[in-house]
Parts: sequence; C-alpha cells; structure tokens
Amino acid sequence: MTVVALVGTQWGDEGKGKITDVLASRADVVARYQGGNNAGHTVVVGENTYKLHLVPSGIFYAGTTCLIGNGVVVDPKVLCEEISYLHQQGISTADLYVSEKAHVIMPYHRVLDRLEEGQRLRKIGTTGRGIGPAYVDKYMRMGIRMLDLRSRESLERALDQVLPLKNQLLQKIYDHPGFDRDELVEEYLAYGEAIVPLLADTSLLIDQARQRGEDILLEGAQGTLLDVDHGTYPFVTSSNPTAGGAAPGVGIGPNQIDQVIGVVKAYTTRVGEGPFVSELQDATGDLIRERGREFGTTTGRPRRCGWFDAVLVRYSVRVNGLTGLSLTLLDVLDALENVQVCVAYEYRGRRLEHLPADLEMLKECKPIYETLPGWQEDITGAKSFADLPQRAQEYLKFLEKQVGCPIQIVSVGPRRDQTIILRQVF
Ligand code: GDP
Ligand code: IMO
Ligand code: MG
Repeated sequence: MTVVALVGTQWGDEGKGKITDVLASRADVVARYQGGNNAGHTVVVGENTYKLHLVPSGIFYAGTTCLIGNGVVVDPKVLCEEISYLHQQGISTADLYVSEKAHVIMPYHRVLDRLEEGQRLRKIGTTGRGIGPAYVDKYMRMGIRMLDLRSRESLERALDQVLPLKNQLLQKIYDHPGFDRDELVEEYLAYGEAIVPLLADTSLLIDQARQRGEDILLEGAQGTLLDVDHGTYPFVTSSNPTAGGAAPGVGIGPNQIDQVIGVVKAYTTRVGEGPFVSELQDATGDLIRERGREFGTTTGRPRRCGWFDAVLVRYSVRVNGLTGLSLTLLDVLDALENVQVCVAYEYRGRRLEHLPADLEMLKECKPIYETLPGWQEDITGAKSFADLPQRAQEYLKFLEKQVGCPIQIVSVGPRRDQTIILRQVF
C-alpha cells in the first residue's frame, strides 16, 4: 500500500495528465485534490487524445477508482459534459465518485471571475472558469457544496444565504442584472440528478482502500509556482497545488503520503501573466512552442516558453518535499543545437540561488545560464535510459544535480509507451 502525491513543479501543464495515466496502470485509486476546471490534463490512449478538466486522469483504466476530492471546486455543468464526453468515447465512469463536501462553482462565480479580472490593475490572466470566486465563497463560509444539490430544500437554503449578496454586488458594482433564484435552483437540481448518485464520503473511500492495502495516487492540478501561498503571488491560482494541499484536499493525514513525485518539463512554460525569468521571446522560444504544441489545453492561449529554470525547480523540491521527478517533453529539445539551464539569478549584480518572494525583485532578476550541447537526435523511440543519446543523458544528470532530486521517470512523447521508468513508483 503506497500513497503518492503527484504535483506540478512549475507553472502547470507539465504533463501531469500523461504521467498520472501512466502511473494509474498500477494504482487502485486516483484522486484530484484541488483546483477545478481551470486544469486541462491531456491523456493519449492509442490513437485518441483526451482532455480532462475535472475527472481524474486514471479514468481510462477499468476498475481504477477515480475520486474528485473535497478540495476541488466543481462546476457541475462541466462535470456533466465531461462525463457525457467520456461516455461518447466509450469510457466508463462507473468508478467515479465526487466528494459531497466539494464546493460548487455557480454561474455568478464565472461572471465575477471575468468582471473582477476586468477591474484589476494587474491582470492575472485567469482561466475565467470561476475558480477564484468559488474559493472565496468557501473561505467566506457561504459556499454551496455538492451535498446541497441533494434536495430542493437544501439547495434553496444554501442559495438564499449567498445569492442576495452576489446579486447586490453584481448589480451595484458591476451593473450586471444578476441571477434569478428559481432559475438557478432548477438548473442546479437538474445537474444534481446526474451527479448526486456519484456523491460519496471520498475520505472514507480512500481510508477503506488503504485498509485493503491498495495503491493511491493523488493527482495535483496547476503547479507549485501557481500555489496561492508558494507561487508568484498574485499571479497564482486560489488553491494549494503543492503536496501540502493534497492531505486536506482528500481528507487523509499528511503522514500517510509516502512519496511526492514532481512532474517537470525539460524546459519552462507559463500561461497568463506574471514574471518569468528564463522566458525566451525569440525564435528558440517559438520553436519550443511549436515542437511542444504549447497552446493551453483549457483556453487555447499560446503558452510563454523558456529554458529550464533550476532556481524554480529547486524551490519546488523544497516546498513539496519531492522524492522524485518525472521529467517530461524531453523530445521537444531534440532539434536544438544547444540547451541552456538557468542555474541562478542575477539581481543588481548579486547572485541569487533562491527564489525571491518579492515580485518587484523577481522582475529585475536576470537568468544566469549554463549551456550544454544539444543532442540533435530523435529520442521519441527511446525505451531506456541507455537508449538516450549521451548528451541527453548528460542533460538529465545536470538537471538532477542542479535541483537536488532524482529523476524517476523520463517522458519522450505524449503516448504511454513513450515513457522511461527508471524507478517504479508503485
Ligand atoms: P498537464 O496540465 O500537466 O496535464 O499538461 P497538459 O496536458 O496541459 O500539457 C502537456 C502537453 O504535453 C499535452 O499536450 C501532452 O499530450 C503533451 N506531453 C506530455 N508528455 C509529453 C512528452 O514527453 N513529449 C511530448 N512531445 N508531449 C508530451
Ligand atoms: P493544469 O492543471 C497552467 C493559471 C491561469 C492564470 C492563473 C490563475 O492544466 O496544469 P485561475 O483560473 O486558476 O484563477 O487562473 O493560473 N492556470 C494554469 N496554468 N495550467 C493550469 O492547470 C492552470 N490553471 C490555472 O492561466 O495565470
Ligand atoms: Mg494543463
């Protein structure tokens, strides 16, 4: 019995979906613990490419239990659509459960997400999915939870606590007409009909799986630098994607997590606003974007691309307590003559080894690079470490040394069989 948390070590989109799917072949339970449908996780199974926003990436294995934990904010409309999409593709969701405690994203959250973003002097570039406003209501203790969808009375009771306030805010501040209570009740009761059968005490389900000695994978969304506490605040999301968020996000004790795997790209990307020290705004950046198909899974926005930033990943190793790395998209660098790694920052003539919290300072930081020779060989068919060109092996060893964490998995393409497992996780 092993419990593994899998987290993004950069600004999201590290390939968590792919690695979760690969690891799920040996896991009994896969659970999401935070975020919502701001996430876009890609899984390639055979000829098919699936994009998941809420359903855990373990769903493609019959018999693997998939849980949406209490720490996730759930847009029931999106969940219903995702379930029907999976059914249309012939994927069963018979083993999918949703925490009754998970908070519900309402239409006013989506609207407020956009309106508030419009008001910000410093735009965050949110996904506009209502994630931030839904977490705000959770912490304001006026959120609607999945269990409130169980009956008309409970939904009305929950809505009456919050809707008058939201409507005042929308009407008085934003000149928006607001939402009709009865229409919302009807709409959400209809989602409830589809989703209530999936509701469960997911913390208990995980505990029972542990008692049976089963292997459990906790699938993070977003990434460490988007963490509301540890990320590049305020250009962050509103949850804790770091490993520390996994225990409360599914209802287990922190001492029950045995390993923390960080998924890390062989370079760096970011969607949305905020500082990015190793960003490449040149032809190399464009080449990486093209080769890595770096366009948002959720919003389609082009991702900003840059070199591997060892300062960020070193930080990620620390704040997550990473026990191993899963390095992805290494093949994207195949075409390059040289590869660079940002090993430290220069700030006003000083060398910084650690990430500063002050964004004004971070904005001024310049990357200090070390340059390694590229391998300029197609590695997408590599099946073992020994199959990788010497220079690619050296790049991996260099990264390991820079960040102080062993690489456990290397991904050389989006497919399942394009994965080199150096040390098994389960
Ligand atoms: P996630 O949000 O962390 O799950 O990552 P996304 O799915 O948003 O973005 C990762 C993208 O990279 C997806 O299109 C994956 O199919 C793709 N991908 C994952 N691993 C690899 C890899 O090793 N090589 C290549 N070329 N693509 C990969
Ligand atoms: P996955 O799980 C990359 C970014 C948004 C924005 C900021 C806040 O696919 O890695 P939000 O809508 O969460 O309030 O937006 O966070 N962001 C992501 N970037 N991958 C994600 O998820 C992201 N989820 C949110 O672009 O900058
Ligand atoms: Mg993504």
